[in-house]
Amino acid sequence: MKDEGNKKIFPDDFYWGASTASHQVEGGTINQWSVWELEYAKEHAQTAHLRLGMLPNWKEIKAQAESPDNYVSGRGVEHYKHYKEDFDEAKKLNFNALRFSIEWSRIEPEQGVWDPAEIKHYKTYIAEMRQRQLEPFLNIWHWTMPTWFTDKGGFAVKANLVFWEEFVQKIADELIDDVSYVITINEPNVYSASSYLTGEWPPQEKKVLRFLNVFWNLALAHRRAFKILKANKPSLQIGIAAQLANIQAKRPHNLFDEFSTKWMRYFWNWWFLERIKKYSDFVGINYYFTDYFTGMVSRQTPKIPVNDLGWYMEPEGLFPLLLRTWSRFKKPIFITENGVADANDQYRRWWLEETIVAMERALSENVKILGYLHWSLLDNFEWAYGWWPHFGLLAVDREHGMTRTARPSAKWLANKIKEL
Ligand code: BGC
Repeated sequence: MKDEGNKKIFPDDFYWGASTASHQVEGGTINQWSVWELEYAKEHAQTAHLRLGMLPNWKEIKAQAESPDNYVSGRGVEHYKHYKEDFDEAKKLNFNALRFSIEWSRIEPEQGVWDPAEIKHYKTYIAEMRQRQLEPFLNIWHWTMPTWFTDKGGFAVKANLVFWEEFVQKIADELIDDVSYVITINEPNVYSASSYLTGEWPPQEKKVLRFLNVFWNLALAHRRAFKILKANKPSLQIGIAAQLANIQAKRPHNLFDEFSTKWMRYFWNWWFLERIKKYSDFVGINYYFTDYFTGMVSRQTPKIPVNDLGWYMEPEGLFPLLLRTWSRFKKPIFITENGVADANDQYRRWWLEETIVAMERALSENVKILGYLHWSLLDNFEWAYGWWPHFGLLAVDREHGMTRTARPSAKWLANKIKEL
């Protein structure tokens, strides 16, 4: 009975797949982030206990988190070299879509100097995906930039948007022929907050105004990219991947908690999307967090269950978030990222089950969800945390020939997709 219902709920052309980002998997990327890694690897290793010592699994991760190698992306998981095998693995998981990002520093290593071999690489990459009936979701920018661009101030300088436009134009000219879906920017809120407000990420600034400025410039960057891409290919479907949290009041009906919740929902979730809504065909949602707010905008989430990064897990929170996003924008939705850091694959299957139910509920309420892309296809370089968190459906053994092994939860998902 249940299965019959499910069959009707997910449309036949629903996209099932996973996401990756160039710097996190390719290996050999040389950009502002890789420079920063090398500069701070030792310091990050030495101070790991201060940042991570409180995690329940600290004992398990200690050796890795205290090693400088952990903080260097280096060879990545050699996806640049092994992408065809990775696409084959994706097919084995019954996927029909993959999201990936273009590494700007590869195709424009110097300002105005384009590398034809790297452009060809991404062309072949897309063609190989297509050959396997995997729909490519091309993400233009997932946080890494060539150093010539960040030396000029990156997105903190509005005048630099001309360089971004040139980059987007190049993609429009060379890489979108065989592509139907483009994500311009990944998580503008997370990038601008982590790089310019909390100062955790390069260039490690802690300036409110700079943060707001970058946030705003990224909205302009999206709009300009939208115009360039549409001019080249009007049928292209364009959006961003937004990190949206299911934000709730800790004490429902308490005035302070309700106010904090409303403010956070607006500022964190909607502000950027409102700025670009006339320039978006869909909303991409990266869902990881349900956050409870109380008092003067203070976040207080339950203590369990948490994933390896200590992030509170409430996968079913996707449902109210989908309802809210749909009722506000009335645009098709893709889940562009969703997953857990779970090295032992203890929670992933449960997370996936709950997520599928959350999508079914939303679909039954006529929310237009077109696809689900899990984070991530592969274990990958988790930014400032480095290599110890494992988000992959495919585990990667970096010590032994970069072998890929489907985790049990991935096999479960592959079977489930067949049923849905
Ligand atoms: C990012 C990914 C990251 C994931 C897990 C998202 O915010 O887009 O690059 O690996 O979260 O932290």
